[in-house]
Amino acid sequence: MAPNFAALRREFPVLERKTYLNSGSYCALANEVRAAFDAYLDDRLRVGADWDLWVAKNESVRSLVAALIGAAPDEIAITASVSAGLNSLASALDFSGPRNKIVISDFEFPTAAQIWHAQEPRGARVVHVPRGADGYIPASAFAQAIDEKTQLVAITHVCFRNGAKLDVAGIVELARAKGARVLLDCYQSVGSMRLDVKALDVDFAAGGMLKYLLGTAGIGFLYVRDSLVTSLVPSNSGWFAQENIGAMDIGANRPAPNARRFEAGTPPVVNCYAAEAGLRMLLKVGTSAAEERIRTLTARCMRRLREIEWASVTPSEDDRRGATVAVPSRAAARLVEELKARGIVTSSRDDNVRAAFHFYNDEADVDAFCAAMKDLRAALGPPPAVR
Ligand SMILES: Cc1ncc(COP(=O)(O)O)c(C=O)c1O
Repeated sequence: MAPNFAALRREFPVLERKTYLNSGSYCALANEVRAAFDAYLDDRLRVGADWDLWVAKNESVRSLVAALIGAAPDEIAITASVSAGLNSLASALDFSGPRNKIVISDFEFPTAAQIWHAQEPRGARVVHVPRGADGYIPASAFAQAIDEKTQLVAITHVCFRNGAKLDVAGIVELARAKGARVLLDCYQSVGSMRLDVKALDVDFAAGGMLKYLLGTAGIGFLYVRDSLVTSLVPSNSGWFAQENIGAMDIGANRPAPNARRFEAGTPPVVNCYAAEAGLRMLLKVGTSAAEERIRTLTARCMRRLREIEWASVTPSEDDRRGATVAVPSRAAARLVEELKARGIVTSSRDDNVRAAFHFYNDEADVDAFCAAMKDLRAALGPPPAVR
């Protein structure tokens, strides 16, 4: 049975006050997640420090992330951010040999590209796959870049700038043919669509809890395929990355035999409360149902925008699109401000305003956004090149 989206919407109080289309930046806060933050404070007042409970919460988040993306808990590190997970992974890779190439796309979020470029002094060579004339990057565009020298293909699932979704299966196939590994940055997709790391056959995946996972900033995850875990020894380490956290051994680094070796210090305790509540809620809704709902809303939004002759730069094909609809403007930052003044929360990247949808949005949100865009078109419409 399909979830009752109208009832779910009422669990997000900000939606009574705002047309909230900013989940690609930060999700709306659910009552249950607010209650989880309150529970943390209550525990602090009641017990003081409850480490047993806090470690259990961290493990609960690990298991919920694993369930969400089709992995085993031992394949999941709980990190402070995507950046923390990628830095830890990078520290375990060796670029001193002939397989020193890292292939990334021009759709990457800055932190991912920057971290891979930061490996250049260690011998890495970073090659970018550019977007085509239509603004998209098909799998075939990676064919030339991925070769026998490629160690890692590090790609975003959905581009944060324009909402375009890469053909992960096609790119993985090219990587496999050359013996390269694949890292998926799924921050802009996880929670907004079905995502099964085993079906996609990626080796690594990183994401975080503040967008479509309904949680908070300050907590993320890194998936590492089980068969690779023990061959990778991060030099980026810490006491929560050790085999026995309680050993307090200062004589050696003994990494955990599972993906916890990619963690570092004290877990993000308060964020675990919120992340757990958000993940539980999302798993109850189901990522297939969320994906279907979001697809309906983005398709409606793109149709309405075409009607007002202010077309989006987001791919119209369902399988090439995530939860964001990006619309080019000659003054995107001002457009975001004008929309905000009308109670519509969006964000801008480059020359685009981004409207990002989650299952808690509805048709009225789409229509409110497009009606405001129609009003603002004369003043802030598309730049001459795309008109
Ligand atoms: C695709 C993608 N990767 C990474 C990040 C940021 O990661 P971090 O958790 O390191 O801030 C974002 C944030 O917007 C993102 O959209």
